[in-house]
Amino acid sequence: MNADALQSLKTWFQNYVHSFSLPVPEDQRNIAIKQEHTHQVCLNAVRIAEDLGLDQQDIRIAEAIALFHDIGRFSQYQQYKTFDDSISVNHAVLGARLLLENNVLRDLPKHDQDLIVLTVTLHNVFSLCEGLDEKSLLFARLIRDADKLDILRVVIEYFGQEKESRAEAVALGLPDLPGYSQAVLACLVRGEIARKDVLTTLNDFKLLQLAWLYDLNFTCSLGMVEERGYIRKLAGLLPQNEEIAGAIGIVREYVRGKLNMR
Ligand SMILES: [Fe+2]
Repeated sequence: MNADALQSLKTWFQNYVHSFSLPVPEDQRNIAIKQEHTHQVCLNAVRIAEDLGLDQQDIRIAEAIALFHDIGRFSQYQQYKTFDDSISVNHAVLGARLLLENNVLRDLPKHDQDLIVLTVTLHNVFSLCEGLDEKSLLFARLIRDADKLDILRVVIEYFGQEKESRAEAVALGLPDLPGYSQAVLACLVRGEIARKDVLTTLNDFKLLQLAWLYDLNFTCSLGMVEERGYIRKLAGLLPQNEEIAGAIGIVREYVRGKLNMR
């Protein structure tokens, strides 16, 4: 993909998002959060792509995938007023459909079009299916890392804000109770990722964010976690007790272990 092609995709994205300005401030906050998320995921994707030593053409493809990975979020929110796929629509599938229906990628070679549509579709699956070709697998892993890294930022910033200025759709409507579920904590300790439907409180949601670190594919992504202090920041948002501290210690060891392997 050349620089002009990427620029025209960015222009299309800007125009598309501007068509979603909503009159209610809370709704506008939720839209703005996805706009900023997209921008940050693009930066993460480019950084990972560069770190992996991809060529300029492929770095632009990584950026285009990041630009469109959440394109379905805008119409999902407009229609359902939620970012919870389980009670609305799969936003990744919706996004891929939007790209195809609007013929957004028409000026790109067919193999690039297919790669972008496929990786947008796969960016939010629980785990990647077997049998992907090498290039699809690389870009699917890349967007999943770039996305998770920024979701961590969004969640940490969300909890740092006053309740009335939070973009409520971020936390999937979970109740802000002092407790947490033993099942979600046990998953984290075992190095597993709990499914979203077992979350019961906001603390469970924070524990799940930590577990997602196990699913990061590239060493440079874990380096960004360390550099940005995400584990420390999430730990500070959780109840301060021994079992939580123990689980966080396990995650911290995992990340450091991976980084030392380099
Ligand atoms: Fe997404």
